Amino acid sequence: MADIFVTRYLAPAAVERLRAAGHSVILNLQERTLAHAELVAQLAGKAGLIAYVPDRIDAALVDACPDLRAVANVAVGFNNIDIAACTRRGIGVSNTPDVLTNATAEIAWALIYACARRTAEAERHLRAGKWHGWGPRQFLGHDIVGQTLGIIGAGRIGRQVARMARGLAMPIVYYSPSAKPDFEAEMGAVRVSLDQLLRDSDFVSVHTPLTPATHHLIGRPQFALMKSTAILINTARGPVVDEVALVEALRTKRIFAAGLDVYENEPRLAPGVADLDNAVLLPHIGSATVETRTRMALLAADNMIAMLAGRRPPTPVNPELWPNLPAG
Ligand code: DGY
Repeated sequence: MADIFVTRYLAPAAVERLRAAGHSVILNLQERTLAHAELVAQLAGKAGLIAYVPDRIDAALVDACPDLRAVANVAVGFNNIDIAACTRRGIGVSNTPDVLTNATAEIAWALIYACARRTAEAERHLRAGKWHGWGPRQFLGHDIVGQTLGIIGAGRIGRQVARMARGLAMPIVYYSPSAKPDFEAEMGAVRVSLDQLLRDSDFVSVHTPLTPATHHLIGRPQFALMKSTAILINTARGPVVDEVALVEALRTKRIFAAGLDVYENEPRLAPGVADLDNAVLLPHIGSATVETRTRMALLAADNMIAMLAGRRPPTPVNPELWPNLPAG
């Protein structure tokens, strides 16, 4: 049986599951992400690593940790991991798709409502003691019902955000490298070019993974195409949006508002963004519900147990390491 290092707190049910499978589990219980060198030191003699989004699993770490055989990321995104380096070394990598789809789609909707109806800004105003009674032009926002929803990246989360618009009579357009006939049939969604989506949408919601091709997918030329009443939502990965261009677009009212749960250089914010009333800012809490985080932890544990047993994990990121083997 193997030693597993967990970079932060992990739901107790998942720790128990790993221990019941015979593994020894060592957790970093400090309320902080470990520095690269600290993580390397902790991984001496460990075959398993359970990691989170802020942990950087790069080629240097992989080379410095010869005992490592499996990395279970407790996230659907895995841009924090050098997958090619892991695969080259035969290290299995898994993620946690599906179990967080609803929670993340809910946060996208929380941001849509907050931006369109200016709820965060209005609440700040009230709490600051600045509200002196009802007024006909106070905090005028924009309608949601009947407005066009543009989904960039029609994967699980993007499609779920669109499904949650049922009842709101919103035309749905989407931009995706490949057509999604099921999505089109289910939601009447129409596939368009990115430029067309940006021109037509009242709400633009980003759901694409971060890859070299999607880095700064939304920048100054893209903001120039958007309606002045448009709202941008990003619950995917910060670097998909050029934050300097976003701050400029918000400051100059090129667009109406933006709702962000992710940032280019987390936990640092782009200069000036926190001063803008038309930015709604959340601290990367897309999957942060008790139920969802527990499901993510349990799935990561199942992935780890399978990989350490030489089996294909339920949700592999580099499935080529287990050719011809069913999940289990
Ligand atoms: C994910 O799963 O990729 C989220 O960003 C983590 O909360």
